Amino acid sequence: MRIPLSRPMIGEEEKEAVLRVLESGYLAQGKEVECFEQEFAAYIGTREAVATSSGTTALFIALKALGVQPGDKVVTTPFTFVATASAILHCGGIPVFCDVDWRTGNIDPESLREVVEKDPQVKGVVIVHLYGIPCALDEILTIVRLRNLFLVEDCAQAHGAEYKGKKVGSFGSAGIFSFYPTKNMTTGEGGMVVTNIPEVAERCRMLINHGSRRRYYHEILGYNFRMTDIAAAIGRVQLRKLEKGNAKRRENASFYSEKLADLKGIEVPFVPPGTLPVFHQYTVKVPKRRDALLTFLRERGVGCEVYYPLPLHKQAFLEPYGCGPFPVAERLSREVLSIPVHPGLSRNDLEEVARLIQEFLEDCDSVGDGV
Ligand SMILES: Cc1ncc(COP(=O)(O)O)c(C=O)c1O
Repeated sequence: MRIPLSRPMIGEEEKEAVLRVLESGYLAQGKEVECFEQEFAAYIGTREAVATSSGTTALFIALKALGVQPGDKVVTTPFTFVATASAILHCGGIPVFCDVDWRTGNIDPESLREVVEKDPQVKGVVIVHLYGIPCALDEILTIVRLRNLFLVEDCAQAHGAEYKGKKVGSFGSAGIFSFYPTKNMTTGEGGMVVTNIPEVAERCRMLINHGSRRRYYHEILGYNFRMTDIAAAIGRVQLRKLEKGNAKRRENASFYSEKLADLKGIEVPFVPPGTLPVFHQYTVKVPKRRDALLTFLRERGVGCEVYYPLPLHKQAFLEPYGCGPFPVAERLSREVLSIPVHPGLSRNDLEEVARLIQEFLEDCDSVGDGV
């Protein structure tokens, strides 16, 4: 694609950092990982951070460390990447879905309350700060505290996003991040668990390292989900660049919103008051002809994608847990479209994307195509 939907921003510093590790001869988990964990915890504002091999493994071990057992019910959103729910299942837990807020695509506190009040077997909640826009944390925290549930924040798309001046990931019992190359910062593959609960961090450290605290002494059944020093060296540089990249994403988002807000047939993202979004994605709603707009943009070299075309309660392997209907999630899956917003875009790129969307919508309007 001429204007890709995402592009990892890798520069000379990342290359030098990797070379330094390669030349040190120590490639697996070591000093770089330890420094990355400390720097990441300080950035998010939590006591602890544990680096892992991916966002998926971070989520899985966070849930395990919080005590999810076979048969435990965990409430989550159906409008997310599959890993959010599969991590619950990998623990033997049962995902229970509730609907989302039309404006943001984030979990709807009212729907969450209904599910939690109905089902005394619910042990915890996993929320997702979708597209880098924070969830309604005040309302969600009230619900989980009332019932003494754990709260995991899936921040795979929200590195550095804030709610009332505090970084997401620091509100729940634990938060998890992904460093996949499309994310706001990357380590190639990688993830992080953040928490203020030392016992949870300690358990995560054991789980990612074959259940051991001391080499060759294994207290619990564990895994190898460690991050390498090569990945951590990239992550440390990326973390230093994150704020600048996020600011550019917000600037790009404002540019689009200004250009597109008044057009007929499209709805620009809603940013709840009191939140600082990081626009992992800039996602518009196109009530009619969304798929035609996607094809139109792609044919002209603009990367775009639907996150997500099939809500989780309708996915084949999750159907036994699905229930529903969740009309808001289902409608969103038919109407959302994410367009390029990453910090590598030039002014010309932004203008071209906005102009193409405008052209498409005006053409639809003029032929009475019901935008
Ligand atoms: C919301 C959400 N949760 C979890 C993940 C899983 O992260 P990873 O791809 O690093 O395993 C992703 C990333 O794709 C995600 O977007």
